Amino acid sequence: FMFSSGLNFQDLMARQGAIDSPPKTPFIMGSECAGDIEQVGEGVENFKVGDRVVALPDHKAWAELVAVPATSVFALPPGMSYLDAAAITMNYTVAYILLFELAHLTPGKSLLLHSAGGGVGQAVVQLAKTVKDVTIFGVCSKSKHEALKNAGTIDYLLERGADYSNEVRKISPEGVDIVLDCLCGEECNKGYALLKPMGKYILYGSSNVVTGETKSFFSAARSWWQVDKVSPIKLFDENKTLSGLNLRHLMYQHGSHAFVRRAVNQVYTLWSEGKIKPTVDSTWALEDVPEAMQKMHDRKNIGKIVLDPSLEPKPKPATPAKGKAKDKKAANQEEKKASSVESEEGEKKKEPELTNGTSEDKSDSDSKEKESS
Ligand SMILES: NC(=O)c1ccc[n+]([C@@H]2O[C@H](COP(=O)([O-])OP(=O)(O)OC[C@H]3O[C@@H](n4cnc5c(N)ncnc54)[C@H](OP(=O)(O)O)[C@@H]3O)[C@@H](O)[C@H]2O)c1
Repeated sequence: FMFSSGLNFQDLMARQGAIDSPPKTPFIMGSECAGDIEQVGEGVENFKVGDRVVALPDHKAWAELVAVPATSVFALPPGMSYLDAAAITMNYTVAYILLFELAHLTPGKSLLLHSAGGGVGQAVVQLAKTVKDVTIFGVCSKSKHEALKNAGTIDYLLERGADYSNEVRKISPEGVDIVLDCLCGEECNKGYALLKPMGKYILYGSSNVVTGETKSFFSAARSWWQVDKVSPIKLFDENKTLSGLNLRHLMYQHGSHAFVRRAVNQVYTLWSEGKIKPTVDSTWALEDVPEAMQKMHDRKNIGKIVLDPSLEPKPKPATPAKGKAKDKKAANQEEKKASSVESEEGEKKKEPELTNGTSEDKSDSDSKEKESS
């Protein structure tokens, strides 16, 4: 039974059909949820009814009842709230694998991170700072710089879209030890070029594919085309390493459940020791998912967006009556028409108040959003 759920960038991509093998529509979205076990399948021994758990299903997480293979379910450590579980599990597990399994982060290393203000970005920053003397170059939208500067965890904030490579070189002429790239496309080449000898570049997302409100084959093709195809001989000559991480594939195509479980347990241990605390941007009722997604799409979230089904949905602004926007002449013409088909049309003119508005009134939606960090 679901009590809390996370909104991830992958959900935006799934909505656009921009992930590989998206489920057939219609389908229930969501790839992470926390709650209690309501029923246990045959042969499952490590969980029982009533256990407090978090699950990372392949979609279908945004529902009251979620059916998920036991291999993708993780017991919550004592004292962890459902909200924290939804904010931590996916993002910190990805961040943990990136930093400690793939990049082998050690004291004194430097790190370039894209979307540094986002859910995974903030998890990477916190985990990286558990290691001594790590320097973080964080690239993100300019609008987030002030808030992130105040948080004080990113050493150098760089602006997305600007010549960040040049900025990094001004501070560290030899480049960086680790590049974590969730954008793909031209950032791959820039990231690779910024690596010091023995440096590691890791691709873990393709956010650049999202350019508009719907899937664009052109963006996907461009993103692929822009990436230099690097030969192992070049890596050998330059002493560089390229890696990739796709948690969904790791769990649902490659069957590496034990590996992921170990990483989740490491993350929960760090949480139990008080070393990490999720940055939650905002929490939303399930009914308000479209607005929550829009906030992410508009690049406005700092940290994780969480869904909480116990919250009341925001009141939606009433849609103005159709006639209002029309000029007087058109209104008069309509009146005449109406008088000729009296009773039926008379009813149609009574415009009902719509309650499923898409909330174009942003200020209204933002003011009622439950800011939780
Ligand atoms: N490999 C894996 O297994 C795995 C798992 C989870 C997430 N990820 C990846 O990690 C990245 C971050 O995921 P998240 O869930 O934590 O989301 P998030 O970073 O909170 O996503 C929102 C942020 O993405 C940035 N962004 C970059 N390109 C964008 C675009 N085209 N449209 C809108 N926003 C864009 C924006 O920040 P700025 O404008 O500040 O950059 C925005 O605020 C994503 O690429 C995601 O696919 C990978």
